Amino acid sequence: MRVTGTGHASMRIDTPAGSILCDPWVNPAYFASWFPFPDNSLLDWETLGQVDYLYLSHLHRDHFDAAHLKRFVSKKARVLLPEYPTSELEDELRELGFTDFVKTVSEEVIELDGGLKVMIQALTSPTDGPIGDSSLWVEYDGVRLLNQNDARPTDLSLFASLGHVHAHMLQFSGAIWYPMVYELPQAAKTAFGKQKRDRQFDRTWRYIDDLKASHVFPIAGPPCFLDDELWQFNDIFGDEGNIFPDQSVFMKEYAKVGGTNGVVLLPGSVTEITQDSIETTHPTDVDEFFANKVAHLEEMRERKRPIIAAEKASWRHPEIDVLKEMKRRIEPLLDESIYLAKGVGGPVRFDLVGYDGDSVESIVVDFPGQEVRRYADEKVRYRFRTERALIEHLLFIDEVDWVNSLFLSCRFSAARIGQYNEFVYAFFKCLSEERLQYAEGWYDEHQRATDAEDITLGDWVVQRRCPHLKADLTRFGIVDGDQLTCQLHGWRFDLPSGRCLTGVGHQIRARRAGEPAPDANPEGDAPATAATPA
Ligand code: FES
Repeated sequence: MRVTGTGHASMRIDTPAGSILCDPWVNPAYFASWFPFPDNSLLDWETLGQVDYLYLSHLHRDHFDAAHLKRFVSKKARVLLPEYPTSELEDELRELGFTDFVKTVSEEVIELDGGLKVMIQALTSPTDGPIGDSSLWVEYDGVRLLNQNDARPTDLSLFASLGHVHAHMLQFSGAIWYPMVYELPQAAKTAFGKQKRDRQFDRTWRYIDDLKASHVFPIAGPPCFLDDELWQFNDIFGDEGNIFPDQSVFMKEYAKVGGTNGVVLLPGSVTEITQDSIETTHPTDVDEFFANKVAHLEEMRERKRPIIAAEKASWRHPEIDVLKEMKRRIEPLLDESIYLAKGVGGPVRFDLVGYDGDSVESIVVDFPGQEVRRYADEKVRYRFRTERALIEHLLFIDEVDWVNSLFLSCRFSAARIGQYNEFVYAFFKCLSEERLQYAEGWYDEHQRATDAEDITLGDWVVQRRCPHLKADLTRFGIVDGDQLTCQLHGWRFDLPSGRCLTGVGHQIRARRAGEPAPDANPEGDAPATAATPA
């Protein structure tokens, strides 16, 4: 099996039974904020795009580059389609001209022509990607590869059960706006960033250890930020709170925990994998490349400046009445929302900075009041400050996912009262009837699901499944004193009270080992609720 690195999370897999192109991303994403690094725009895409199969893991714009797919990828390619609850991925691909779809069933191995086997695991919670993220497992002639990209399955046991994996590709770096955009003192931002950076690596080591593949490939990030306004997000300033460590940092950190089987793929690197060997060739020396990272970034910044300028010029739509349009689009959804609106629980304010950089228009999405209106000097749960032009553009293009556009752009600042609230972001990625209904249904099912199994961790008996997204705490739970951390997303819980210290509304069931279970009910009445703390 041959794997060609094509940048970021993208790769081309070649076997005698066919080739698969995964997640090709070249054009800037999220309001021209993210660019692939190292630059992959000069690869021979005409040739790389002539493939038998195409796999798009999900609709995030650093995985799904519509312009590139349209221009460079053969429309004869058969699309390996993850089993997602909505048809958006298929619809967007059909619009680009793809017609041949292999509709996979999540977690089912299928054999394609010539003995090429694939399996796609689709994750479908409203917090997985834009309503869905996935991993691709491939086997040919006894060689197995898992392209996990940035999916976060609760564990990798399913893949491990299919036989030893030889190549494991996974994300290790950040892909979010936290904590950089928060209006916090620099010291706090650095501390939160460092925590996040450490957690990202911990999660990566956990996955690597789960699968124990022969070779590990750090992929799917980080992007680079070439606009002068965002340049500070590149990890080139020795800031330990930067959440975007690159592949060379990965290799150093991996070595510290004993990792010796890491392989970095630059765009154009080619690796030949057999059951017991690997041979990789690079277009340039990898260590030297990363040693000169600043120079590479500066060169890219100059080269891409016109692209950023052209994009920026397309965002302003002064004819749009933002308040009126937000009302029209969002109020019907507020009206229908039960779980998300309740989860947000308060008003969310958008401060929109005008073209002159000074004037500000404040609009509130009032979740309890089910309306969009002018800000009325009230306390709000979240406040976002961004350019009015960005919101105009979202309304102009009828964007249904403001996470996969505005928030990932990092072109905003934020302040909040209290803890992280996942429902705020879940709502703003569901600005369509189809998505909202799906998310509401998912939370409904999720909240009703009773997961009665308990496990013992240290001195505590806790529910087996993480209250956040059901990670198995026998694998991901770490108890330190009275606190439990779930390493999948790093959420923390205070065990004596059961309170979640990271997000709103995720109580954990816990009691000290040796104490009776709270729902042991000698009277024979209905048991205490699953959320009752010890
Ligand atoms: S599943 Fe997300 S922190 Fe546990």
